[in-house]
Amino acid sequence: MADKQAELTVGGENYSFPTLEGSCGPDVIDIRKLYGNTGKFTFDPGYKSTASCESALTFIDGQEGVLLHRGYPIGQLAEHSSFMEVSHLMLTGELPTKDELDEFTHTITYHTMLHDQMRQFYQGFRRDAHPMAIMCGVVGALSAFYHDSTDISDPEHRKISSHRLIAKMPTIAAWAYKYSVGQPFMQPLNSLSYTGNFLRMTFGVPAEEYEVIPEVERAMDRIFILHADHEQNASTSTVRLAGSSGANPFACISAGIACLWGPAHGGANEAALNMLREIGTPDRIPHYIERAKDKNDPFRLMGFGHRVYKNYDPRAVVMQKTVREVFDALKVKDPVFETALRLEEIALSDPYFQEKKLFPNVDFYSGIILSAIGFPTTMFTALFALARTVGWVAQWNEMISDPGQVIGRPRQLYTGPTQRDYVPVSER
Ligand code: CMC
Repeated sequence: MADKQAELTVGGENYSFPTLEGSCGPDVIDIRKLYGNTGKFTFDPGYKSTASCESALTFIDGQEGVLLHRGYPIGQLAEHSSFMEVSHLMLTGELPTKDELDEFTHTITYHTMLHDQMRQFYQGFRRDAHPMAIMCGVVGALSAFYHDSTDISDPEHRKISSHRLIAKMPTIAAWAYKYSVGQPFMQPLNSLSYTGNFLRMTFGVPAEEYEVIPEVERAMDRIFILHADHEQNASTSTVRLAGSSGANPFACISAGIACLWGPAHGGANEAALNMLREIGTPDRIPHYIERAKDKNDPFRLMGFGHRVYKNYDPRAVVMQKTVREVFDALKVKDPVFETALRLEEIALSDPYFQEKKLFPNVDFYSGIILSAIGFPTTMFTALFALARTVGWVAQWNEMISDPGQVIGRPRQLYTGPTQRDYVPVSER
């Protein structure tokens, strides 16, 4: 604990609050006794100045553009690690030894199948359902299929449900895609990697062998690593809040998926590529830059800006590099990449974006890669959900394991009518 005290004067009375020190980042003022001592709440919609929990998983320094998972920089993990290793790291706190990695990978591989009745569950959706609608429904429905891992007070149940969620998410997402294109669902194949399996379940068909292209598998795995966790973002906070009531993990992750869907969060990757395609050619960029700056126009540059990063998002750096690698491996080119590079250049030299510290975020380039691999834009956010599941379950586990955990229950500044008497309808 930091020995600094924060002094607050309310209505002429002085109060003192302790400050707490983390291992990195700013100290926090512990205001848990604020209401009890002063009778006042704090007001912080959007949590711009509020730490909602204690966590040892992910650290972001938004000013410097730093992202660490359990202390490891995201650039190093993206370069040298694999999604399975990072998943182990997030869940246990340490990178696995070779044996631990083999065991963990084996466990995840042997949980990838879905209960066979879930096939029928898919049939209930319209063919044109958005994959995120299917993901919300199917993941929530897992709680109706896996009763043997929903006792959240049992660490073994929590572990099994975490493994199930990480393992089944690729199958669920791939089947959402298959359903939309009217192709047969592909079952997982245990000889493939986590990511190779996902690619095969998405793009393979039972009529022929599917060949996993190693460069694409690696790029996809890297995209999963880049999305694995991101501290207390909106969907993670949603998972924590849902879980704080004691709800089962499948229901909590489904809540997280719902939150991720929005265009200000995970939906931005879909919106960013749609925007780049709408801009089309570099000569049209100035018009869109002017629109983004116009207060009377709701248009924003999608894939730009971040609540925490006031510098280049370190994930966007890796994404930009990965675009070139995927283009080379697939021998494709997409003119939209040139438009994106030029848009970035123009925006970063514009005083509006400089003053507001708006830089490309993870979503700016990811859609270009995913599109080159063959995913329709509607699948982008589903892929984000797939990868973020490890972060969600790690955060949820961390919260439930904390002996001091209590239900999340924010307060409010009430601005509605004061008490008044009911008037019968005949007298209104
Ligand atoms: N284009 C134009 N202006 C912007 C943009 C943008 N993309 N982002 C923020 N601004 C302006 C905004 O109008 C505001 O201006 P002013 O101070 O004059 O009112 C100022 O910058 C601050 O914006 P804010 O909305 O108060 O900032 P925030 O921290 O609440 O929002 C954000 C962060 C990510 C929601 C926002 O930057 C945004 O809407 N970006 C586009 C959507 C996007 O790319 N989202 C993906 C986020 S990263 C992936 C993830 O974590 O899910």
